[in-house]
Amino acid sequence: MNEKLQINKSDEEVPVLAITHWTKELFSFSLRRPKSFRFSAGEFVMLGLTTDEGQQILRAYSIASPTWSDALMFYSINIKDGPLTSRLSKIKPDDGVILKRKSTGTLILDALKPGKRLFLFSTGTGFAPFASIIREPETYQKFDKIILTHTCREIPDLAFSQMVLSQRENDGLLSKKDITSLEYYPTVTRDKPTRDIKLGRITDLILTEEFFKDLNIENLCSDSDRVMLCGSQSFNRQMKGILIERGFLEGSINDPGDFVLEKAFVGG
Ligand code: A2P
Repeated sequence: MNEKLQINKSDEEVPVLAITHWTKELFSFSLRRPKSFRFSAGEFVMLGLTTDEGQQILRAYSIASPTWSDALMFYSINIKDGPLTSRLSKIKPDDGVILKRKSTGTLILDALKPGKRLFLFSTGTGFAPFASIIREPETYQKFDKIILTHTCREIPDLAFSQMVLSQRENDGLLSKKDITSLEYYPTVTRDKPTRDIKLGRITDLILTEEFFKDLNIENLCSDSDRVMLCGSQSFNRQMKGILIERGFLEGSINDPGDFVLEKAFVGG
């Protein structure tokens, strides 16, 4: 029995390829993707580590890499004394990370009805699933325009999303038209804004319509706009209210709709 458990445990571990620390609290890491591992862009998976006492600590993590990549990328906050994230932030290449093989989640294109514009609204580590979605050619086949927002406290917290944006251009899988059909709208709430980085919560910028004026785009309309939300619980709740007020219907995989949401996984 013990021997069997041991075999299963090592089967679930995959090697770390790289880790990058973006700020004191934010880091991303990539794992070698097992050949049989399949997922849809926007989904999450359970991953974690085994403690010295042999106990598995697992948390949900959105996959931040596209479905065509050989590496699986994840984006995490390091919670001081958090049982998993504080340990994960110290992993090194070739260490083993437990990766459960079943991905799931509602932030997938198939949970949305067809539409013209796709809005991806995120706060903090809630950007992770969108890092995958914006590097998928299918996203650009399904939508004419993609508007991606990322709200963080301070400018350095935007470093990961900015890296993903430039990686998207270097992937070589998207046409020039695809590249320019995405608008990126970063905002900070506790830092000095710049020419390219706006001050304020995205919810407020939507309500004052500044967001639409800045991008020179029409206000949200449920007829042809589709929306994905990923952020803190209060952000999701407030954004959901804004959408429902405008007639948007929540979708799911079995019943596609106008918007879908998932809370950013913070975990300990
Ligand atoms: P704020 O600084 O005003 O709280 P956190 O780091 O706490 O996860 O937050 C990430 C970002 O999300 C912060 O910029 C934060 O703004 C913003 N935020 C938190 N709650 C909401 C909300 N209900 N609506 C919009 N933005 C929010």
